Amino acid sequence: MSNLKDRIIVVTGGEGLLGKELIARCREAGATAISADIHCETDLAKGTVRMDITDTDSIRSCVAEVQKKFGALHGWINNAYPRTADWGLPFEKIPPASWDQNVAMHLGGYFRCCQVVLEHMKQAKGGSLINIGSIYGFHAPDFSVYEGTSMTMPAAYSAIKGGVINLTRYLAAYYGPHGVRVNAISPGGIFDQQPESFVKRYEAHTPLGRMATPKDIAPAATFLLSDSARYITGHNLVVDGGWSL
Ligand SMILES: NC(=O)c1ccc[n+]([C@@H]2O[C@H](COP(=O)([O-])OP(=O)(O)OC[C@H]3O[C@@H](n4cnc5c(N)ncnc54)[C@H](O)[C@@H]3O)[C@@H](O)[C@H]2O)c1
Repeated sequence: MSNLKDRIIVVTGGEGLLGKELIARCREAGATAISADIHCETDLAKGTVRMDITDTDSIRSCVAEVQKKFGALHGWINNAYPRTADWGLPFEKIPPASWDQNVAMHLGGYFRCCQVVLEHMKQAKGGSLINIGSIYGFHAPDFSVYEGTSMTMPAAYSAIKGGVINLTRYLAAYYGPHGVRVNAISPGGIFDQQPESFVKRYEAHTPLGRMATPKDIAPAATFLLSDSARYITGHNLVVDGGWSL
């Protein structure tokens, strides 16, 4: 297991499906892990901070509170997943305002967190930041897996996650000279009680024969945060059971 002893790590969206496991795995590896989520109350003793990734002041105050309480900030995972109420419309029905809002909240929120956190890490002369991407950030969806369900893969998601992955490369180059590493993790689809027909078709497309669980993804994050990955930056670590091969 990767060693994160005495590291202070913040996970945005730490109350969600993947976020909870990222927090648990960082703690298992010896870190103090803090969930920064729009759906929790601030209680640093319990490891939670109420934070909105779409609001730079909120991000700044989270970083300041963590720094004040724990004296450092070694790692940060951009994992939050903001989306509008109409998320999931077919491409031809997406109102442009909805597109704008989703890109601003999700890609813009990751940008805001990177801007605040990477400058903080630069001052501290080190740190590791991970952006959670997706297989859909570098690979087209197979729309046949959604047939007969109400699910689809929203167009904005491909644009957002493609942006997240390439922003990661830009920031790795920009902050590398300051000893700050920036990487992405692109998970495949995580099982979350999706319709059986979708799951069967998704599994048939996946060499390892099943959807991901949060436990499949989180060790990639503890590895990239740890010193074992000290010479890795700008990488997009794909954790998808071979789906994108
Ligand atoms: N679930 C999957 O199959 C899957 C696959 C690949 C990538 N991902 C990515 O993994 C990440 C986590 O996804 P998930 O499935 O756990 O999502 P989720 O919806 O279960 O959790 C997202 C969390 O983000 C929080 N959040 C939403 N808006 C926020 C904001 N403005 N500020 C702070 N927190 C906010 C929510 O409260 C929630 O706790 C996302 O980046 C997602 O794109 C998920």
